[in-house]
Amino acid sequence: MKIIYRLLNLSSRWMVLFFMLIAGITAAQVNPYQYTINKVANGTKGAVSSAHPLASEVGLSILKKGGNAFDASIATQFALAVVYPGAGNIGGGGFLVAYTNMGKAISIDYREKAPGSASRDMYLDKDGNPLLNLSQNGHLASGVPGTVAGLYASHKYGKLPFAALVQPAIELAYKGFSITAAEARSLNGSKAAFIKYNTMTPAFVKANPWKAGDTLVQKDLAATLTRIRDNGMKGFYEGETARLVVEEMKRGGGKISLDDLKNYSAAERVPIIFDYKGHTVIGMPMPSSGGLLMQQMMKMIEDRDIASMGFHSPEAVQLMIEVERRAYADRAEYMGDQDFVKVPVKRLSSEGYLKERMNDFVPGKATPSDVVKPGRANPESDETTHLSVADQYGNVVSVTTTLNGGYGSKTVVGGAGFLLNNEMDDFSVKPGVPNMFGAVGKEANAIAPGKRMLSSMTPTVVLKNKKPWLVVGTPGGTTIPTSVFQTLVNIIDFKQTSTDAVNNPKFHHQWLPDQVMVENDFPKTVQSSLEKMGYAITNRGQIGRTEVIKLEWKGKKLFSIESVADKRGDDHASAY
Ligand code: DON
Repeated sequence: MKIIYRLLNLSSRWMVLFFMLIAGITAAQVNPYQYTINKVANGTKGAVSSAHPLASEVGLSILKKGGNAFDASIATQFALAVVYPGAGNIGGGGFLVAYTNMGKAISIDYREKAPGSASRDMYLDKDGNPLLNLSQNGHLASGVPGTVAGLYASHKYGKLPFAALVQPAIELAYKGFSITAAEARSLNGSKAAFIKYNTMTPAFVKANPWKAGDTLVQKDLAATLTRIRDNGMKGFYEGETARLVVEEMKRGGGKISLDDLKNYSAAERVPIIFDYKGHTVIGMPMPSSGGLLMQQMMKMIEDRDIASMGFHSPEAVQLMIEVERRAYADRAEYMGDQDFVKVPVKRLSSEGYLKERMNDFVPGKATPSDVVKPGRANPESDETTHLSVADQYGNVVSVTTTLNGGYGSKTVVGGAGFLLNNEMDDFSVKPGVPNMFGAVGKEANAIAPGKRMLSSMTPTVVLKNKKPWLVVGTPGGTTIPTSVFQTLVNIIDFKQTSTDAVNNPKFHHQWLPDQVMVENDFPKTVQSSLEKMGYAITNRGQIGRTEVIKLEWKGKKLFSIESVADKRGDDHASAY
């Protein structure tokens, strides 16, 4: 214990000892220098699936100590901020969708906000040309981080002390952990950007290239996490951490102020809930487009018996492409932060509207995007990462969290050791100008002080017979809703195992650009059938990294839990 004291440089050592004893949490349960990757794990009591083995195992250790799914999701996210710095974060934001054992559907919005001094045209030059380098890299690209507030807000539903949930991440940051080959490649690939966009050299930069098995130590990050552990929200949004963020902003010409940080709050929202073939789908509402897009896409195919067309048949794929196209056209026109703009959610999700949307669908023929304008919806009288968690008590939690691009803005807060997001690029910097995911938007998603940028993140829970059945989500920018859509259709309609549903090749259409993106292993025969129908196809290496947890119930009793991690990355499934 003495060693841990010295290593942690603790300010309130007795408190920590107390928490560690209560929770029985020590680093020994997860060996950070030696770990393997599991793609499938089965259990009866709890499961975590996330982008990194150490993070999933930290989450599982919390479940084993009697923590619930909320506790585990918090600890997993803190751990991801250390072991998966490309997307795991405390300098970004995210969304949580959950279903509790009391039968309550929850969604928590901890999306970043535009700083108070942000303005509509801040990324345009004097001639009105977009300056995308500024919305995508460096200090000006960052929104006010929401993650710590979100984790704090979700802790309302947890059982263990908050400090105990931060502790494993502190240890991973302070003592270091072995990086994977993928992380080494990724850090090496970003070295020039880390040098360019930082005012102080971050822990991610070293003289020789990183290689698999190297130890990444992040002492500044450990100190920041320690302040969060000891002071909660204030450990991040006020005091030393806030001071370091603002100093960093001053050095690099960013906009986040002490007031922006102090005033940030997460928001509990009313989730989007809809029925699909007798299943209840629970999704994230604005400012994520994810839940509404899912509802639109699933409802547009619901009465068309896609199962009889066959998995990856040209007919089924074409139908899904066309509903994707139509939903994304609405995204570009109408969707944004409902605290600032009126989004006609009711109309956009109504059965009549969605039927009408499919009136010009022609089987076997592409409908060009310049024909598919956004639907008429008059105002109604209006590198990301996902984790899925289930516990023995019957709670399930689905969280997608992000810095936006890989390593966000690439800027690490000097002395505080964490990366800031480049989420400002998710706003529409100018009507019709594509962001880094090629997505266009208009007034609904224009920049305004304190506004949240539109997201595509789609943490989702599906209930069957009123019991949690699937916990799903993925990263992938604008491809997120289409990946979750396809994963659910694969399971529900094509009766695939979770593993197949996750790993089968994905495709994506987002209205503009008018092209279908397919993964490299997407069947060539289907591709040429689609080309004959008039689709332009482009290859895209990989789409998403989907994590699925599936629960089976015998009456009211939890019978089995299957945890599945995507083959596409270091993603790791754990269960017990
Ligand atoms: O909120 C969004 O939609 C994006 N910032 C998500 C970014 C993302 O998924 C990047 N990862 N591949």
